[in-house]
Amino acid sequence: MRVPASRPESGFSYLALGQKPPLTGSVLHCDRVPLPRLAERFGTPLYVYSASAIRSRVQDFEQAFGRVLHTLCYSVKANSNLGILRLLQRNRCGFDIVSGGELERVVRVSPSAAKKVVFSGVGKTSQEMEQALKAGILLFNVESESELRLLATCAARVNKTAPVALRVNPDVPAETHPYIATGLHQHKFGIPVAEALRLYREASRNKHLRIAGVSVHIGSQIKDVRAFARAMETVADLVRKLRIEGHAIHYVDAGGGLAIDYERGSASDFAQWVRTYAQAVLPPLRDLDLHLLLEPGRAIVGPAGVLITKVLYRKQNNGKKFLIVDAAMNDLLRPTLYSAYHRIAAVRADGKSKEKTDVVGPICESGDFFARDRELPAVGEGDLLAIMDVGAYGMGLASNYNSRPRPAEVLIDKKSVRVIRRRETLADLLRTER
Ligand code: LLP
Repeated sequence: MRVPASRPESGFSYLALGQKPPLTGSVLHCDRVPLPRLAERFGTPLYVYSASAIRSRVQDFEQAFGRVLHTLCYSVKANSNLGILRLLQRNRCGFDIVSGGELERVVRVSPSAAKKVVFSGVGKTSQEMEQALKAGILLFNVESESELRLLATCAARVNKTAPVALRVNPDVPAETHPYIATGLHQHKFGIPVAEALRLYREASRNKHLRIAGVSVHIGSQIKDVRAFARAMETVADLVRKLRIEGHAIHYVDAGGGLAIDYERGSASDFAQWVRTYAQAVLPPLRDLDLHLLLEPGRAIVGPAGVLITKVLYRKQNNGKKFLIVDAAMNDLLRPTLYSAYHRIAAVRADGKSKEKTDVVGPICESGDFFARDRELPAVGEGDLLAIMDVGAYGMGLASNYNSRPRPAEVLIDKKSVRVIRRRETLADLLRTER
């Protein structure tokens, strides 16, 4: 099979390697670049991202929400690499941040990008608030009465007016992993709707606070869009009440949380899925004449990344099979932390027979696994595997556990290959220690 030059390859797909005989069977590519070539050049484990896949997901959002005034504020925590942020900024995204560190990243990409930043999180420090006030961000999503007061104090100190939305907790159940559900009253997030009116009144009396919106975020990896609709109904009711009291509500921040299809990957129709999401979010806001903010993270970058890892050893314990690979839970924590499912593909697909096996890393914990009893092509020692859909919360959750340097990250754009983070060295690891 030849790759026709005119076809804009995007994302991850199996293509024939090279065009000259002998053809070596099909090999997993990122856009137009074969993964084995990247592994050879940069080593493994290696994070590989597709720029065209990211751009096309941004486009899908833009189209689904095209008929309303909106700004996509990409949630930086999903993948905060400067190369990824720059790509998103060039595609006109704003950003959702949760720390001074994330703000610094955004400002490094472009100081003017701060104008489209929303600042979420339950534990903002005064230092972070002042940093954000000076940078001139779009909106503070305030999560408690104490935070509101501290924000007013900080704004007075730096002689600014803070644009404020209260993040309300709509008490809407969302079916997802309990660690990443946020919309119930027993979660630490947001302000109960019943208390919000009083706090908006309090805020309106402070000249260093400017009420600008209402925000909500009910959790992550949410597959049932009716939960979003319910949350937006609560928000819309609140907006009406606030306007009756004379508050100028310009923004509704609907948060992030749209699920991706970890089981089927790119076989699922993402554009249609985002339209379904828009059909849940938009109707409750109809006639409110608002500027809608969206904070997707996973849905933008998740499927745009893979982790390439090499099989170090094959091993059997009383018939149970293991592939011991060179990536570990420190490189990709999601299976360990959330029992998350990630598809795993053999980088070279040459009609291998299948076998049931665990895929595990070298770390000294039984929790260090990527798959259990998974039906996979029977790969050999030295072969490459790709762990799929790791563009979100992959590298961001990586650590140096077991004194393992973190992987490099490369961003592919059609044929171009850019190292957006070099591999860490042991010297990097030891630099801050005495
Ligand atoms: N906005 C706020 C206020 C958030 O807390 C989050 C995610 C997002 C937006 C983006 O959500 P997304 O569109 O990516 O679902 N580490 C977990 C996910 C934690 C999500 C935390 N908050 C995981 O690997 O599944």
